[in-house]
Amino acid sequence: METLNLIQTDSREEQYKSLVPQIKALIADEPDLIANLANISAALKTGLDFYWIGFYLVKNNELVLGPFQGPIACTRIGKGKGVCGSVWEKEQTFIVPDVDQFPGHIACSSASRSEIVIPLMNNGEVMGVLDIDSDKLNDFSEVDEQYLKQILEGLQW
Ligand code: SME
Repeated sequence: METLNLIQTDSREEQYKSLVPQIKALIADEPDLIANLANISAALKTGLDFYWIGFYLVKNNELVLGPFQGPIACTRIGKGKGVCGSVWEKEQTFIVPDVDQFPGHIACSSASRSEIVIPLMNNGEVMGVLDIDSDKLNDFSEVDEQYLKQILEGLQW
């Protein structure tokens, strides 16, 4: 597959329904994690026009910036720091409707208003996180969590 088939609809759920199988097909035969995270970032940025989408990966007890699409971002995040570090510590998804109300939020960009961060699990441990930022308040819901988790299922080093 060289191009994504993008549907015209305002419904994010319909966009996910079209996009998720295409992304699963894109990464199915490729064992390299970084290559797959890079293509997932590009496909989600192209398909859903998020402000910032990318991955941080656990390396030497820090989250280190991985493949992403969007403006430049902070490179290292400690455990328990910001939204990403909290997701790592708690091993659960965080949906933050207003980043200004999240204690310790790390503002890589002042344009970011809401955020969803999902842990990437590998053998029961967090190996990284998927972070998506929106320039709109309250832009994420359980719908995003549900479809994004489908994309992340089965990823491993
Ligand atoms: N806002 C995140 C940091 C990463 S950037 O938004 C790309 C956080 O608080 O963890």
